Amino acid sequence: MRDENVIDVHHLSKAFNGKPAVVNVSLDVKAGEIFGFLGPNGSGKTTTIRMLCGLMTPDEGDGYCLGFDILHETAKIKRHVGYVPQSFSLYKDLTVKENLEFMAQLYQIKNFKNRVDLMMAELELDRYKDILAGRLSGGWKQKLSLAAALIHDPKLLLLDEPTAGVDPKTRREFWNYILSLTTRGVTALVSTHYMDEAERCNRLAYIVYGRLMAEGTVRDIIAQQKMFTFVTRGDGLPDLYTKLTGRPGVEQVVVWGNELRVCAIDRALLQTTLADFPDYTWEETRTSLEEVFIHLVNEEKRRELHERRDQYA
Ligand SMILES: Nc1ncnc2c1ncn2[C@@H]1O[C@H](COP(=O)(O)OP(=O)(O)OP(=O)(O)O)[C@@H](O)[C@H]1O
Ligand SMILES: [Mg+2]
Repeated sequence: MRDENVIDVHHLSKAFNGKPAVVNVSLDVKAGEIFGFLGPNGSGKTTTIRMLCGLMTPDEGDGYCLGFDILHETAKIKRHVGYVPQSFSLYKDLTVKENLEFMAQLYQIKNFKNRVDLMMAELELDRYKDILAGRLSGGWKQKLSLAAALIHDPKLLLLDEPTAGVDPKTRREFWNYILSLTTRGVTALVSTHYMDEAERCNRLAYIVYGRLMAEGTVRDIIAQQKMFTFVTRGDGLPDLYTKLTGRPGVEQVVVWGNELRVCAIDRALLQTTLADFPDYTWEETRTSLEEVFIHLVNEEKRRELHERRDQYA
């Protein structure tokens, strides 16, 4: 393992009942960074996270997590990693405090009551300490899961969609807290479907149907795809949307409120198409992360289609 890499895994693959879920995925996450893990539903994010922390054995591939071998030192990894699973996994019929005390005892933490009090204070869970976990709202359940994952003061946090369905203010608090943890030397890998959260990460990986399609900073990922985007405003955008869909050079077209955005790979071809709509003023703009991700999904679908055609040819 290189010193600065908290996660360093290579060529991970996993299939379920012969169907590939993760295909040849390599990842490196550096100490102290917030690393975002994104991709459409069912693309293998959870499966990859589980392989990283020794909860699932890969069919192929190897590597290190916190310097421990992901194939042979899984018990050590589990002891040093804080994992917030995608679905709530604490005891619904225990109170907030009881859940945290249970976790703290599981990790044999000395002065565990003090640690529980500290975690409840940091995440402002004290006022709910005697409430049954099952009765908490979604956002507070997630805060409790985070407190539980942090109870043993782990150096690495693996967060699987920790803010799904959580309101914007609570999401922001959640992220600010994660950021404060990184200043204390914690590294975080976070899976999410939210673009604003992706933008808050130091680096990202985007996985589509098991395959890693892009990796880097937001700026790198957008630049790598070499896409061109034009925007217009005005009346009749829904009608314009219909007319532009499927036209030469138009890869994506979307209406956002009072704006219509068009993306392309072939800039010249798109401009020829847009010239057919002289009533609108077209302005070139920065391609968004979401547009890049949609492009990557389209690319992967095209690749799969070709592969299938070749198989049956
Ligand atoms: N234990 C399992 N047994 C069988 N198939 C599984 C199992 N776990 C995952 N899969 C399949 O593997 C693929 C990847 O699933 P995974 O849960 O890793 O995706 P994901 O990217 O986390 O999706 P989401 O965004 O919906 O959480 C899916 O097709 C899923 O149905
Ligand atoms: Mg998942």
